[in-house]
Amino acid sequence: MEILVTGGCGYIGSHTAVSLLEAGYDVIIVDNLCNSKMDVIDSIKKITGKDVKFYKGNVCDYALINKIFSHHKIAAVLHFAGLKAVGESVSKPLLYYRNNIDSTLNLLEVMTKYNCKNIVFSSSATVYGSPQTLPIKEDAPLTTTNPYGSTKLYIEGILKDVYTADNDWNITILRYFNPLGAHKSGLIGENPNGIPNNLMPYIIKVATGELPILNIFGNDYDTPDGTGVRDYIHITDLANGHIKALEEVLKGSGLKYYNLGTGKGYSVLELVKTFEQVNNVKVPYQIVDRRPGDIAACYADPSSVYQCLGWKAELNLEDMCRDAYNYVIKTK
Ligand code: NAD
Ligand code: UFG
Repeated sequence: MEILVTGGCGYIGSHTAVSLLEAGYDVIIVDNLCNSKMDVIDSIKKITGKDVKFYKGNVCDYALINKIFSHHKIAAVLHFAGLKAVGESVSKPLLYYRNNIDSTLNLLEVMTKYNCKNIVFSSSATVYGSPQTLPIKEDAPLTTTNPYGSTKLYIEGILKDVYTADNDWNITILRYFNPLGAHKSGLIGENPNGIPNNLMPYIIKVATGELPILNIFGNDYDTPDGTGVRDYIHITDLANGHIKALEEVLKGSGLKYYNLGTGKGYSVLELVKTFEQVNNVKVPYQIVDRRPGDIAACYADPSSVYQCLGWKAELNLEDMCRDAYNYVIKTK
């Protein structure tokens, strides 16, 4: 059965492509490589021993997406393609709206044309804004504080309207918490260029000596040690969650929303200490001012996804720290 994975060369898409191939699906990837490299395709093949079809191009390109659907009998789409840097979205909002929303509209139009009405969409815990209550359930109020988050919320709205207009669609919206780690092979993972925005890539660059010190953004939050608390989830668990969501979509699930998180929050200091212990390295840090827009704590109530899909995270913070570092050391 052929599954189209948009953004399949990226961090989450590549790990999910591996899980899909291991589960016996045929995988077609479309990616314009604006935030990834083509080597990933070879790594996916190497890990799984299976072939992957790859189209280099933009999901906003109607002719390309039309060509893919005309050449393949696509049963469902996993839609990861999108720009994701919160800070960049504030300085380049039009780029974010154009890329993330246009690509989704284009995809949905072609899917409608070919009567492929099964889609799993990558949303984010960012749609919960600054949560009023923890842990966060799927029916919590939705709001965003930056253009990136707004693209996710608008796309969720578009998908809901598409479903309302035509109940033949099966649409699952997955709201990810904070994915970390890498495939255990060390062949695929996350290693952004330049100075990272996110915590784990920054920790790794300090551990490898590429950056001198980790800046911890505030230790005066209302959390047990004062540093920010997040629900970190291993990328392999996250990828496997997509297989469960896809299985449900293919059975005919209607419109569904699930949190993909572990349900447990860890502070910045806990993550740094775990990373140091597991990898036997030092991560010097200093406390600096809070980062504008950050929230104190964010973690999921994952009970709905467990009840409905039987999915729960299996790997722990040690696994995330070990696998994230292993990937970077191996590819250095
Ligand atoms: P990523 O940047 O590693 O992967 C996204 C991929 O999409 C990249 O390979 C990029 O080249 C490709 N892409 C972007 N726009 C495209 C377009 N118009 N046409 C074709 N390809 C395009 O990001 P990721 O971390 O793998 O995230 C995947 C999805 O999950 C994104 O939609 C992101 O917003 C969402 N998400 C990520 C996180 C996270 O912390 N990583 C959290 C919540 C949600
Ligand atoms: N942090 C530091 N120093 C750093 C980087 C981060 O102290 O150099 C802290 C942050 O203040 C926060 C925690 O580490 O308390 C996690 O920060 P990240 O930037 O790694 O992740 P965020 O929770 O801010 O945001 C991420 C993605 C968003 C997504 C959100 C929820 O960047 O796109 O997770 O899924 F919406």
